[in-house]
Amino acid sequence: MKGIVLAGGNATRLYPLTATTSKQLLPVYDRQMIFYPLNTLIKAGIKEILVIVAPDHSGQFLNLLGSLFKNHGIQLLFEVQKVPAGLPEAFVLGENFLDDDNVTLILGDNIFEDDFTPDIKNFQSGGKVFATKVPDPERSGVVKFDDKGKAIQIVEKPKKWISDFVLTGLYVYDNRVVQAAKDLKPSGRGEYEIVDLHNFYLEKNELAVKVFDGEWLDAGTFDSLLEAGQVVKEKKLFENFDPIINKAIQEFNEQLKKISKKILS
Ligand code: TTP
Repeated sequence: MKGIVLAGGNATRLYPLTATTSKQLLPVYDRQMIFYPLNTLIKAGIKEILVIVAPDHSGQFLNLLGSLFKNHGIQLLFEVQKVPAGLPEAFVLGENFLDDDNVTLILGDNIFEDDFTPDIKNFQSGGKVFATKVPDPERSGVVKFDDKGKAIQIVEKPKKWISDFVLTGLYVYDNRVVQAAKDLKPSGRGEYEIVDLHNFYLEKNELAVKVFDGEWLDAGTFDSLLEAGQVVKEKKLFENFDPIINKAIQEFNEQLKKISKKILS
């Protein structure tokens, strides 16, 4: 299993904050947003991770993450997405990195309270995605279940209500997803749509949809960014971090302190 964090995009809803930095480098309580999705992957035992970034902020990602895990057994690679053409592009950009392996893709602005380690570690084949109940499903990819709880339909931003459950930004797929992503045609809004990849597996009866209850924060708006920081603080979500990340951040901070003391003396 390899991991991809998709941390590009335009982040227009967070202008002007994202005129000077990337959304995923904005702070969520005591650390940059990207550490939360990285934690979901690292906690699940993933050791090779591709971070996909936008060209304008690639240097900042390298400054923060370039050497962070080098003494901790985690290999981070970077890829630049020139234009944000849609989530499935992660698999096309990641083709060589993935080779023949399975992949867990997580969106760089998604923060999960739950631990998905068993789902990721025990994954065999097909696809596994994660749904939760929200008050405003019409803004996302919505999943409808039958009486037995089996997913039967997935629709991006349905105009008519079909269900209160939406798919969140964590996706586990087998390696067939690379070819499926390459075969996609852009949608009416000119983007490649992740819902088409879900349906590729759903049509084959190979898509598992797990419903979860814990906090899910998509920190892409001013309110949700603020809420994310508050939830992290109140629920002490920083205590859920894998020791590898905590140690790496601590070492990084100590290095910065040493350097700043040297500059001042
Ligand atoms: P979105 O929040 O849908 O898009 P965005 O981040 O560009 O924000 P806005 O709608 O405010 O303009 O993207 C979800 C996540 O996926 C986010 O972490 C950015 C990332 N992303 C990419 O890296 N590349 C892409 O092509 C797209 C569509 C999103």
